[in-house]
Amino acid sequence: MADKKLIEEINKRRTFAIISHPDAGKTTLTEKFLLYGGAINLAGSVKGKKTAKHAVSDWMEIEKERGISVTSSVLQFNYDGFCVNILDTPGHEDFSEDTYRTLMAADSAVMVIDASKGVEKQTIKLFKVCVMRHIPIFTFINKMDREAKDPYELLDDIENVLGISTCPINWPIGCGKEFRGVYDRNEKNVSLFKAAMNGQKEVETEVLSIDDPALLGEIGDNFMEKLQEDVELLDGASAEFNLKEVQAGNLTPVFFGSALTNFGVQTFLEHFLDMTTTPLARHSSEGDIDPVEEDFSAFVFKIQANMNKAHRDRIAFMRICSGKYEAGMEANHVQGGKKIRLSQSTQMMASERHIVEEAYAGDIIGVFDPGIFSIGDTICKSSKKFEYDGIPTFAPEHFARVRQMDTMKRKQFIKGINQIAQEGAIQIFQEYNTGMEEIIVGVVGVLQFEVLEYRLKNEYNVDIKLETLPYEYIRWIENPEEVNVDRLVGTSDMKKIKDLKGNPLLVFANSWSVNMVLERNEGLKLSEFGKNN
Ligand code: G4P
Repeated sequence: MADKKLIEEINKRRTFAIISHPDAGKTTLTEKFLLYGGAINLAGSVKGKKTAKHAVSDWMEIEKERGISVTSSVLQFNYDGFCVNILDTPGHEDFSEDTYRTLMAADSAVMVIDASKGVEKQTIKLFKVCVMRHIPIFTFINKMDREAKDPYELLDDIENVLGISTCPINWPIGCGKEFRGVYDRNEKNVSLFKAAMNGQKEVETEVLSIDDPALLGEIGDNFMEKLQEDVELLDGASAEFNLKEVQAGNLTPVFFGSALTNFGVQTFLEHFLDMTTTPLARHSSEGDIDPVEEDFSAFVFKIQANMNKAHRDRIAFMRICSGKYEAGMEANHVQGGKKIRLSQSTQMMASERHIVEEAYAGDIIGVFDPGIFSIGDTICKSSKKFEYDGIPTFAPEHFARVRQMDTMKRKQFIKGINQIAQEGAIQIFQEYNTGMEEIIVGVVGVLQFEVLEYRLKNEYNVDIKLETLPYEYIRWIENPEEVNVDRLVGTSDMKKIKDLKGNPLLVFANSWSVNMVLERNEGLKLSEFGKNN
């Protein structure tokens, strides 16, 4: 039986990722959460795009040069008895593979939507990953202080595009210059909007009951009438709140607010922490692993190389799934088949990196990696040596043939490209009929080609030439033993390649060709996701 302190520590943890299309306000909302958690004194210190400040996660030179966040980091703070872990994800759409993997380490997701735009392209892709994992998703419709789409339209958008039911917890009154506040459907009161200090400090909000005569004076006749109409309509038309459905990922609670002005942020945070889950049990080769009952176990979801250029060190980010981590502890690296000592574990805080002495299920730690870990690896203290389910490989959408300029540097080139692939920044493939002499690189975002070129030059002293290929769709062949891969009937825009393990894959320039090939080859099964291990 686990001890009381361990149970308490694990049960107060809430680990989630924030997903959004770039510019919807993810960074701003994260900052405000930290502000309420007392982790920073003045919002604006996580990232200031227009100032010289950079996000704490901006390690790599290229990030500084471009002013974007390439890698993910973790922010931890305490709020109201909860220990909150926010998995910060790269906002730039070119770095979405890393974002996808980060979602594998979260127990729930907060989806930030720009009220003037609705569901955007990037949100759809990230959302699909959450749906695949059946994790709870909470929606924050942001920027209500600006002109916004009709709220009903926004809900329809979420339901139609993302295929999830919505349940508004609060409801906006007006928007933009006419934004009056939000109505809390459960409490039956209105929080009045006052743009204060541009959101730099916590704001006190005035709250009036819907029956309070003073409300009319505050919001005016037209809005009052509209609000009464909306209240009735919502009670009749929207899905009823059901916590089980939320936790199963079938229903998303929706909140309206304005992160920049702090409006609705605290309400959102409180409801969210209440409704979301404690660290979830994870599936492994030995069945589900209970976070509390089992000894320390974790899986690697991200590898960050060259945090310190002078040492070419790597940090493996692990999500602790059960038990407790203690600095210097011994554990089994299951895939490596070795006992290892977990040392130099760090944790990212809002302003700096900390050495962690202890951590619990739900937490993320970064462990010094002498080059032994791969994404998806399991580390556990138990002698059972179970393996957590692997992390899927997300389909690259851009492909290029890569050649090194100086053939004398073949060794460095192969080493560098393999290490970068091991971190999961790129995927490498080969021509179907030849070996490593022809390397094809696949990336989720096109900017990763630049990262590859930059890193090979800076860290491995190798110049490369990239020749982009026209393919955009990749499919793994799920049943190569059942079909004759050599004799597949393809299309003119299809190419056969293989991954480093020799698994056959198909790449296509056009999406319709995928179906055509399926039709032409009876029994062929194709999959959008590959397996990492
Ligand atoms: P991201 O991480 O999702 O990419 O978005 P981020 O928070 O950086 O926000 C994008 C822009 O939208 C920022 O303005 C930010 O100030 C603004 N913003 C965020 N939330 C709100 C909101 O509730 N209302 C309004 N009106 N604006 C909001 P920027 O000018 O592009 O950058 P910055 O110089 O302010 O950082």
